[in-house]
Formats: sequence, structure tokens, C-alpha cells
Amino acid sequence: MSKIHHDVLTAAAQDALRAPSVLNTQPWRWRIDADVLELHADRDRQLPVADPGGRLLLLSCGATLHHARIAMAAAGWSAQVRRMADTFTDDLLARILVGAPKQSSADERAMHQAIDRRRTDRRPFGDEPVPPEAVQKLVAAAEAEQTKLHRVPIGQMPILAIAAAAGDAEMSDPQYRGELMRWANRPSWSGDSVPADTIVRRVPRRVPVRELTMPPQEGMTVQPGGDRGAAYFVLFGDGDDAPDWLRAGEALSAVLLTAVALGLSVAPISDVIEVAHPRELVRGLLAGRGHPYIVLRCGLGGPTEDLATAPRRDPAEVIRERSDPQ
Ligand SMILES: Cc1cc2nc3c(=O)[nH]c(=O)nc-3n(C[C@H](O)[C@H](O)[C@H](O)COP(=O)(O)O)c2cc1C
Repeated sequence: MSKIHHDVLTAAAQDALRAPSVLNTQPWRWRIDADVLELHADRDRQLPVADPGGRLLLLSCGATLHHARIAMAAAGWSAQVRRMADTFTDDLLARILVGAPKQSSADERAMHQAIDRRRTDRRPFGDEPVPPEAVQKLVAAAEAEQTKLHRVPIGQMPILAIAAAAGDAEMSDPQYRGELMRWANRPSWSGDSVPADTIVRRVPRRVPVRELTMPPQEGMTVQPGGDRGAAYFVLFGDGDDAPDWLRAGEALSAVLLTAVALGLSVAPISDVIEVAHPRELVRGLLAGRGHPYIVLRCGLGGPTEDLATAPRRDPAEVIRERSDPQ
């Protein structure tokens, strides 16, 4: 085994822990076996109520896979990735080998630098619109990952707002509320949870966002802003099978990191995909062009440094050598 390759893979898995995940579940495990880095789903961290089919788990795992690829690229190595998620119940999702040394691109370096700065920014954005050149770069970032980004035009905004309000229906399900309580309010030592200082009290917005505050949590108080200048996107693609959702997670990471590299604030909205009726409304926005994977709200927000950081699990728990005791 080459010590250099082993170190490259270890560093990539460590950077990948910063990836976003639904309710910060971090539903993945990394295994290093000689010169191979394996990505596994952690089914104990799948959300049985919000995500019974495992689609959001695959989006989250795709995001961590893309973070690992970007870390390798920024370190000057090509990644040979074999994606292995054929069905929604497969646990081995991908294998990564270190390929030939390769000069990283400016985009790859910018995305890598954005990994530590990126936060889900739930604050409402102000009036200033997202510049058209930035929109083009976000679209290109999705396309580079074989996925597409639909900018929701002004005429479709009422439908998106209705879909988002309908997504809130999950809150009337006691089982969903139990799941939210369990994952959002975890003890600080757990390395997961969605801490109160990363969530926002309810304020009027163009498109309602997922309610994550549950008593006794209240969330931070913010200026109204109303998201007037925000741009909304639907990440979508041709397929609705497991490989498509893993790839969509990679695209999600690419779009989020590109947005942050461009100085934009961004937040995923997935309750509209979790519930059948709003999902069909969002699908309708695509006019037959594909399957929606997730919605993104993007805009010019306050400084990201003002946002608290959501915790991550202990690397020793998530990244294991094959030789480690299981
Ligand atoms: C598949 C997926 C779905 C998500 N859905 C939502 C959502 O509906 N609302 C929200 O505020 N954040 C959502 N998030 C963001 C996560 O809550 C966030 O990534 C996690 O809490 C870690 O925080 P960070 O992104 O600031 O590192 C989602 C993230 C992923 C990857």
C-alpha cells in the first residue's frame, strides 16, 4: 500500500465530514481498505418518517462523496470513482482510488476553500438580486455533475410558495415531530443535531422555509428581509433511481460550494420533496423535463462568519481502517 495514497484518502474522508446532510444526520461511513476509500450508507441514520425510501440519505451521501472528490482534486490528485448504488437499499455506495497526479482547476480550488466556510444559511435574504453571471455558474456546476438546475421564474413563484406551505404538513404528523425532535435536539457530545443558533424564528418570506424550531428551542431572531432578492432553484435530472439520487447529491454539493465561493448564501429546502403533493407541484414546474431532487434558496445574505457552525461527528467514529476492530 502506498503511504501517500493512504494519506490522500484519509485527508479526503476528513474533509468530506463537513458535507451537508438532511437534519445533519451524516448518514455515511468511510472505510479505508489498503488503497481504496469506500463510502457506505449508515442505515441507523436514515429518517424512517421523512425519508422512508432513502432518497435524502443518497443525496446526503452524494454530497459527502463530492466533498471527498474535491479534496483530492485540490490536493493535486485525480479520483477514480466507481459508483455502486444500484438500488435504494445498497449499503456500499462508492469506491474511490487515487489516480494520476493532476493540476487542480481554479474552480476545484475555490470549491475546496468553500468547504469550511459553507453553512446552511436560514436567515432571510434582502433585496439585492443574485447576479445573472452567478446564476450561470451555478447552472454550470450542476451540469458538470450530469444534473440540471431550473431557476424558478417569477411566474412560477406562487406555485413554489404553495408547495413550500404544503410541505409544512409534515409538522402535523406526530411521528415526524418525534423524528425532528430526536435529530434536531441532540446532546452536544453527539456531534450531530441542528443547534438552535443555526435556525431562525419564523418570519414572513416569499416562500416559507421548513420549520425546525421546536420548544424549548426558539432559534435566532433575524431582520425580516423577506427573501425578496432570493433566487430559487430546483435541482433535477432524468432519472429517479438510486444512481440518479447519489449523482444529484454530488451536484448538490457542487452547487452549494460554488455558491459559497461566489460569496452567495444558500440553503436547501427538502420538505417539498419529502411530501407527495408538494413534490408533484415542484415536478410540474419542470414541465416534463425531469425529476426534482431538491429546492435551493440562494441570495445575498449577511456574513457567513456570523452563523454558528453545525457540529460534526468524531472522525474516529466515521472513518475506519479495514484493520480497525469493528
Ligand atoms: C438532502 C438535504 C436536505 C436538507 N433539507 C433541509 C431543509 O429542508 N431545511 C433546512 O433548513 N436545511 C436543510 N438541509 C441542510 C441541513 O440541515 C444541514 O446541512 C445540516 O444541518 C448541517 O448544517 P450545515 O449545512 O450548516 O453544515 C438539508 C441538507 C441536505 C443535504
